[in-house]
Amino acid sequence: MSDPVDIKKAEGKLGVLLPGMGAVATTFIAGVLAGRKGLTRLHGSLTESGHIRLGKRTDHRSPRIREFVDLAALDDLVFGGWDPIPENAYDAAVTAGVLDTRDLEPIRAEMQAIEPMTAVFDKEYVRLLDGTHVKRGPDKMDLARQIMDDIERFRTENGCDRLVMVWCGSTEVYREPTAVHGSLAAFEEGLKNNDPEIAPSQIYAYAALQMGVPYANGAPNVTVDTPALLELAKREGVPIAGKDYKTGQTLIKTILAPGLKARMLGVDGWFSTNILGNRDGEVLDDPGSFRSKEVSKLGALDYIFQPEQYPDLYGDLYHKVRINYYPPRGDNKEGWDNIDIFGWMGYPMQIKVDFLCRDSILAAPLVLDLALFMDLAQRAGQSGIQEWLSFYFKSPQVAEGLYPEHDIFIQQTKLKNTLRHWMGEELITHLGTEYYEE
Ligand SMILES: NC(=O)c1ccc[n+]([C@@H]2O[C@H](COP(=O)([O-])OP(=O)(O)OC[C@H]3O[C@@H](n4cnc5c(N)ncnc54)[C@H](O)[C@@H]3O)[C@@H](O)[C@H]2O)c1
Repeated sequence: MSDPVDIKKAEGKLGVLLPGMGAVATTFIAGVLAGRKGLTRLHGSLTESGHIRLGKRTDHRSPRIREFVDLAALDDLVFGGWDPIPENAYDAAVTAGVLDTRDLEPIRAEMQAIEPMTAVFDKEYVRLLDGTHVKRGPDKMDLARQIMDDIERFRTENGCDRLVMVWCGSTEVYREPTAVHGSLAAFEEGLKNNDPEIAPSQIYAYAALQMGVPYANGAPNVTVDTPALLELAKREGVPIAGKDYKTGQTLIKTILAPGLKARMLGVDGWFSTNILGNRDGEVLDDPGSFRSKEVSKLGALDYIFQPEQYPDLYGDLYHKVRINYYPPRGDNKEGWDNIDIFGWMGYPMQIKVDFLCRDSILAAPLVLDLALFMDLAQRAGQSGIQEWLSFYFKSPQVAEGLYPEHDIFIQQTKLKNTLRHWMGEELITHLGTEYYEE
């Protein structure tokens, strides 16, 4: 048992800043606004529904996570955001078409009052969008300063005690980090010189970290997983986490794959295809943005199956991911998986999964949990990469030289053990010999 970590109280308002006020962001905001009026229930969130076991099984101590650790109350959340499309949160939610107007009507006025601030936007990074509501400036450092001014204004106008930023913007095109991302000094030079390799998301992240605001990345593009922004997060003592919300098909993959592996069943093919018709799907129709997603989606199975350790079982695994934009489906995605597995004496079997899911309904609770847990991490004095939040991401950010843990059950244990550790409770190893000692 360790000494508890000193965690500051969650007093006052928590501002949740969302670059990108599209389907995910507005579904998240609408849920919280309706939830706190008692109009709906917020399923899919650990901070809302989760319990945590403490001590021995015979102790019968399983408080709600929210009662175990001090989290911001839903009533204390205030929302702000940026978007190159100037629709308020209500109109953006209607455009996104995720929620029925019957669910939006009771919170209409509050949603309408949330107007996006002008975005830092560059069509080179999101080619299929035409942004009109955008910031102008002589260079990228100036744009970062404008975001910092926005953050400060938001903090003052809303009387926020603390802030967190959770990226809900479109997937940017795939770009490998370059020399300009190698150190904070190089990055700041790059901002001043308008380096084309600095993405808009990195300008928001730089501004947030400079202001001591934790940053979580819900999209697959590389943002804070660069030496430059990691250096800034550490210097300012700010938590960061990413990347790409683990929803839909990858969620199912990281639930199924650890089970097959646990039973030492071989897999020689995993074909995943999706159709979706929301704006995210449209953006992903661009090969550059799809590449970011593909890189993020492909990693999970490799790390779970460890083909180098189990060449007979997973050495020849053919893994393919396809995403097709298909407007009639809107946000209601359909993801098919065909999994070719083999067992005893090599006999083949097949698993077919057809997941008719709703992307934003799965992602919204993750935004809530990330906002509350990132705020908790900051009050607990944590900074840099928050690997314990891997549970939420398709492509978890980890320390250099470490491989990411994708198995959702290991990720869940890690998350809960982190909370136990901070609170000075015994970690749960599931050894359980104490129940059998005379
Ligand atoms: N829904 C899911 O299940 C899920 C899962 C994993 C990741 N994601 C990621 O979450 C992000 C949001 O998804 P969505 O379905 O809400 O998409 P969306 O297209 O509905 O919303 C994205 C919003 O970001 C805005 N935007 C684009 N560039 C911006 C910029 N530079 N600054 C501010 N705003 C900007 C767009 O105008 C749009 O309103 C996407 O990157 C998506 O890939 C979603």
